[in-house]
Amino acid sequence: MSIRYDEANRIFELDTRNTSYRIGIVDEEGFVGHIYYGQKIRPQKCDQFLRTCEAPFVPSKNNRERCSFMDTFPTEYSGNGIGDYRESCIAVKTANGSRTVDLKFVDYDIVNGKPGISGLPASFAGEEEVQTLVVHMMDGGCGIDVDLIYSVFEDENVITRSVSVKNAGDRDIRLTKVYSACIDMDDEDFEMLTLHGSWARERQIERRPIAYGKQSVSSLRGESSHQDHPFMAWMTKGTDQTTGDVYGMHFVYSGNFIAQIEKSQFDSIRAVMGIHSEGFEWWLTPGETFTAPEVVLTYSHDGLGQMTRNLHDFYRCHMIRSRYLHQKRPVLINNWEATYFDFDTDKLLAIAKSAAEHGIEMLVMDDGWFGHRNDDATSLGDWFVNENKIKGGLKHLVDEVNKLGLKFGIWMEPEMISPDSELYRKHPDWAFAVPERTATLSRNQYVLDLSRKEVRDYVYECVHNVISSANIEYVKWDMNRQLTDIGRGDRQGELAHRDVLGVYELQERLVNDFPDLLLENCSGGGARFDPGMLYYSPQIWCSDDTDAIERLSIQEGTELIYPLSTMGAHVSDCPNHTVGRSTPFMTRAHVALAGTFGYELDITKISEEERAMIPEQVSMYHKYNDLVREGDYYRVASYRENGLYDCWMVVAKDKSEALVTYVQVLGRPNVHSRKIKLLGLDVATDYRLDGTEKVYGGDLLMNAGMLIETMRGDYMSRLYHFVLDNSLT
Ligand code: GLA
Repeated sequence: MSIRYDEANRIFELDTRNTSYRIGIVDEEGFVGHIYYGQKIRPQKCDQFLRTCEAPFVPSKNNRERCSFMDTFPTEYSGNGIGDYRESCIAVKTANGSRTVDLKFVDYDIVNGKPGISGLPASFAGEEEVQTLVVHMMDGGCGIDVDLIYSVFEDENVITRSVSVKNAGDRDIRLTKVYSACIDMDDEDFEMLTLHGSWARERQIERRPIAYGKQSVSSLRGESSHQDHPFMAWMTKGTDQTTGDVYGMHFVYSGNFIAQIEKSQFDSIRAVMGIHSEGFEWWLTPGETFTAPEVVLTYSHDGLGQMTRNLHDFYRCHMIRSRYLHQKRPVLINNWEATYFDFDTDKLLAIAKSAAEHGIEMLVMDDGWFGHRNDDATSLGDWFVNENKIKGGLKHLVDEVNKLGLKFGIWMEPEMISPDSELYRKHPDWAFAVPERTATLSRNQYVLDLSRKEVRDYVYECVHNVISSANIEYVKWDMNRQLTDIGRGDRQGELAHRDVLGVYELQERLVNDFPDLLLENCSGGGARFDPGMLYYSPQIWCSDDTDAIERLSIQEGTELIYPLSTMGAHVSDCPNHTVGRSTPFMTRAHVALAGTFGYELDITKISEEERAMIPEQVSMYHKYNDLVREGDYYRVASYRENGLYDCWMVVAKDKSEALVTYVQVLGRPNVHSRKIKLLGLDVATDYRLDGTEKVYGGDLLMNAGMLIETMRGDYMSRLYHFVLDNSLT
């Protein structure tokens, strides 16, 4: 049992394998307060941390200081307008104009299993694996019932949270803010870690001290975004990969969000996460309920590395549903960087033929095959094949590709509409726009208003028809602009969230109707790489930047919280199309092997020497992918920090093998071999360096380290594969 209620002390005890979370109820008042989150502790009385025995003493009925009390009390979910001046979690507008929310404990339930959240992606687990606590609260004044929902995933050291709000009154109300989680705790000189970015520079790790006041990251772009990521961690100063206390908080949502830490006058911090309240409104008629998306919480006493592995295991076991999760994905070749819009059947078949000869397993036809799209200015919404380019039609092309022994995949951008399209001429009102205003173009396109059922149905029919028209085994679902002009109708505050719900509904229909389809999400690179999308697709395109060196920090930030098996990564041509850098062909492959692996180049045009390396790279993928996909990830060194080299490794769960990837970013003169200390091995096991007779103890490799031979040149890389050997013992 991972959840107990200590009736005598009125404490909820939530325990995972290594962590504990304690919630207390303050008797007379019905406040629900945060007592503890951290390393595992035994069940015991611990409500002193609510500090209700210290001034200002409200639970002992010193009503005079109620306001000061509310402003210091460590709450599980802050109300609004009643004296807690820190960030509120909820706001309403009632029929009589009141905005105040004052939540009080009513009751609780502890149930086995993990309830889903209707219309939203959410973690799942069997009844045996997980327990869920529902703390029922209410505010009779504004007529709402609020449930705080906690599910405890013991094995992964994760607790998920979400919140549902029901209109329990007899008049309509409007929610104007509903965060999903809040944690108050004393500051321990924590630092905050977030993932910042831009197009082609997604998920760059950033650390900063926590200052008094509020520090947040957020998106109002209608998607989780390139710019900020719906994740934050806070950790003791000096935390590294193996030491330090780390709290991670991650949002299972793909739209507008806020992740914020506020440091108070009393040196406590309040961490909150949820749908961003700017512009948000949700109408509830009597009896209706709104459920906020899920937040994933994890704690590690052993540095960032353990937080990473908790999250990787959690997402692999409890979020990603695709049957491809535990399978090798076909090695693909995508024609985007090979041809951009300039392709036809002959060109694609030439690429497919050479790809087949070199061991590649799937051709993906990217943007430009439909309507009359020869650049990015037209045809989104017209999902009919352009037979001037794809002569003989889509089925003919797919059949020919299949005959070459390759699977076939296709690119679509279903959420969008080009002003120059049949669809727009027919339904100009289907695009998000504010009446009487010129809508804002981005990449020459508008966003379809997926809050409307007829729009969703049209979009789904298009996607369904395309996939059913031929043997299409993979879809890259793209979203190449962010939302603007969300301003039509009388419930405009609902539209941004309804749009996200629309995307989820479409992808739910897709994966249900085509359970064997391999779906890869994408958004101008990696702008919608989040746990919400992973519920539908086992992999997401990580970044449009395919340069092996830029990828080091992009992938480091991505791997910090996402399993390697989710990370779309390809070998592309050089000079790299984004940064103009030239790197060795093998380095590009070594870096892409950390992800799903594929190619994004014109195989008929690269040098014979590079082409000849492809079969070897494909066989490396087949050799190592089971380990990379299923193993434990350890970050050994970061180019971002040291400016010279990067190193990560994956260790099998049973510690029987490990793959170390080392990238020497810059060559240096007159230096010794570099010593690096490996992580995660079994100290009592001997490992042989695959392909050699060299045997090392796990203890030696972890404590003394291994020597990396000096390589001549910039951007050089090596893989080291260690396998079990018993010759030392
Ligand atoms: C986005 C994707 C690219 C490619 C283009 C096509 O930028 O990230 O991989 O599919 O769209 O327009």
